Amino acid sequence: MPETKKLTGKFIVLDGPDGCGKTTQARLLVEWMQRQKVPTDSFRDPGDTTIGEEIRQILLSPQHSAMSTPAEVLLYMAARAQLWTEKITPALAANKCVVLDRWLSSTCAYQGYAGGFGMDKVIKIARECLERVWPDLTIILDVDAKAGLSRLHRQFDRMEQKGDIYHEKVRQGFLLLAKERESFAVIDATGDIETVHKKVLQIVSQASFG
Ligand code: TMP
Repeated sequence: MPETKKLTGKFIVLDGPDGCGKTTQARLLVEWMQRQKVPTDSFRDPGDTTIGEEIRQILLSPQHSAMSTPAEVLLYMAARAQLWTEKITPALAANKCVVLDRWLSSTCAYQGYAGGFGMDKVIKIARECLERVWPDLTIILDVDAKAGLSRLHRQFDRMEQKGDIYHEKVRQGFLLLAKERESFAVIDATGDIETVHKKVLQIVSQASFG
């Protein structure tokens, strides 16, 4: 039986390439937390505030194909800064466990690495905008870029339309970031939903949150 008390007030992120299954896995993790009676809030980044949802629409609209990488960095960061202030800070202050669908790790992998902006520059900007940059635990759901995108049975948004080379770099960016940080874990997310969920629970249960 995992020790669930340690999860209160913790900040956990699920992240990874498009189609890695993080939204489903975040939902399953939250349901598990609720069964364990851990007070939990979950949010998606970008989004989950009025301002953040509007920024999300601008970012993902295929109409905005001219958007530059620096503009992407600043818009993702703006949505995140709002989410931090409006939703995450109060939830952590109430000692809830906060589960996030994406976070700064995405800006590092997409804009910083695949987009060529630079991961260090992204982190530097984040330090100016966010009171707290890194979560207690970040779980990267690793899938091959092509396999991930082939799981999306709908029209691609502006980011998804960026092509295989860009998305393979995104994956490499996530793996590089994870290699450099102890609070990151990487899971092979090519298996079925239940198999991946079990791996997520294993990581969460074993996390030392040091
Ligand atoms: P989602 O649909 O997975 O929530 O994410 C929206 C898209 O935005 C997805 O293609 C990944 C991309 N993205 C970035 O490029 N940079 C970021 O910082 C974040 C949070 C997402």
